[in-house]
Amino acid sequence: MLSKVVIPVAGLGTRVLPASKAIPKEMLTVVDKPVIQHVVEEAIAAGFRQIILVTRSGKQAIEDHFDHHYELEAELARKGKTALLESIRDVLPADAEVISVRQPKALGLGHAVLCAAPVVGDDDFAVMLPDMLIDNHNSSRDMSNMVEAFNASGLGQIMVEGVPEDQVQRYGIVDCKGVAVNLGESADIAGMVEKPSPTEAPSNLAIVGRYILPASVMTLLKNTPPGAGDEIQLTDALQTLLSETGLQAYSMAGKLYDCGNKAGLLQANVAFGLQHPETADELRAFLKTL
Ligand code: G1P
Repeated sequence: MLSKVVIPVAGLGTRVLPASKAIPKEMLTVVDKPVIQHVVEEAIAAGFRQIILVTRSGKQAIEDHFDHHYELEAELARKGKTALLESIRDVLPADAEVISVRQPKALGLGHAVLCAAPVVGDDDFAVMLPDMLIDNHNSSRDMSNMVEAFNASGLGQIMVEGVPEDQVQRYGIVDCKGVAVNLGESADIAGMVEKPSPTEAPSNLAIVGRYILPASVMTLLKNTPPGAGDEIQLTDALQTLLSETGLQAYSMAGKLYDCGNKAGLLQANVAFGLQHPETADELRAFLKTL
């Protein structure tokens, strides 16, 4: 059963400087929670219970966030502030755990995932990129749908979304041979390429940072040489997996926010703020005044 999810959090966060100078970019907030907590909640909602963070020095705040804070808990308990106490104590369900491994050098996303190999072992697993926040308030359950598609087909699932053609060079792009993939459904992938130029891109279907993968990917990553940007690319290992066993693209039904850049983080705050019971009314009223 799928239970392990690898979340690489060792990135430098240069796109959100200076905010991320002294705190990890994953700790920047969307309304009242750090981005990483939203992403971990998305994993938990889809049934994952072992959260494997691939981290590095200077990012301890992320581990602290998922740990107990005894002093604060005791103080809130003493004052009878039950709701606040629950909000910091129940960050994870009791049967979930956070495990950290280190990525000593920034050698690419594929390398980051490979750093989790000793914890992943022989199990199939998910990868979630923490910059990407998916708004599933419309009940689209994208990660759960991907788990179901993986279990039904036995094929790795890669979440994709159509992006404007002038943005394809920012992403891994998949080729589904022109098949229109319905939202919330999967289709076979014929090829994929990491950050192509608009003229080389086989489609506008961008890999958006959610993967469900067979355990064999770890062996493929061990044998993957550096690719684009001289980094070990997950997309290159997946290209090999595609030729060996096949892969499917899952077309996301929720709304995506790239919180690794300033505009995306602001948009996520507005969208989530308009859905949060504590902020919705005031924020809506404020936006009308602009
Ligand atoms: C990574 C992946 C890329 C994917 C992107 C999504 O790139 O290599 O295939 O489209 O994440 O954010 P990065 O953004 O780490 O350069």
